[in-house]
Amino acid sequence: MSENPVIETPVLETQRLLLRPVQLKDAANIQKHFNNWNIVKNLNAQIPWPYPDDGAEDFLRCNALPRMQKGEAFIWSIIFENEVIGLIDMGWPNQRNENGDRGFWLAEPYWKRGFMTEAIMVINDYVFDVLGFKKYTVCNACGNEGSRRVKEKTGAILVGQKKMNHHQGIQDADVWEVTAENWKKFKRRKV
Ligand SMILES: CC(C)(COP(=O)(O)OP(=O)(O)OC[C@H]1O[C@@H](n2cnc3c(N)ncnc32)[C@H](O)[C@@H]1OP(=O)(O)O)[C@@H](O)C(=O)NCCC(=O)NCCS
Repeated sequence: MSENPVIETPVLETQRLLLRPVQLKDAANIQKHFNNWNIVKNLNAQIPWPYPDDGAEDFLRCNALPRMQKGEAFIWSIIFENEVIGLIDMGWPNQRNENGDRGFWLAEPYWKRGFMTEAIMVINDYVFDVLGFKKYTVCNACGNEGSRRVKEKTGAILVGQKKMNHHQGIQDADVWEVTAENWKKFKRRKV
């Protein structure tokens, strides 16, 4: 049993994107976009590679949907022009990570258009302003420039480093905190 109340992953909108709870019917698009070494090489070594033909469906059935139903995570599909082009997975605080955590990926043809930054901004508003989260943590392999920049552009504070088992081996990873207090200050600076 999860210690968290079951709050359904909400539908959120940005200027260009729709974020809605991931669904089983998203499997085909997730399979198409996620089966890409340029994405997977930056992620946890637990993700199977080569990516199996049923990798996305298996992830949804055995991992994503049960965690959402138990109230362990919010998992959003990122929709652009009616197509699923990525995922954001936000874990609630638990024994493995007392502050909760977050992971994300976007289909390669959509990189560097500000999409992930835009999505994380509305998610921060939701978890801090609506749900009253105090903080959550995020990590990225030290060479993952895109992920690092998204964090810098969405109010994360670098708090240290740790070793993580990524697909390219055991790597140094940056550890960041996103806090309600800093999010407020960050947004004020941007206005
Ligand atoms: C990381 C990722 C989600 C970034 O998404 P994105 O929508 O391209 O990010 P944004 O467009 O919001 O970019 C934010 C900043 O990062 C920069 N950036 C994005 N991708 C970059 C890359 N590959 N190399 C260098 N800079 C990059 C952008 O130029 C922008 O910075 P700027 O405003 O100074 O120009 C995407 O590259 C991805 O899915 N990567 C593979 C999976 C992954 O690494 N997930 C995170 C694991 S920790």
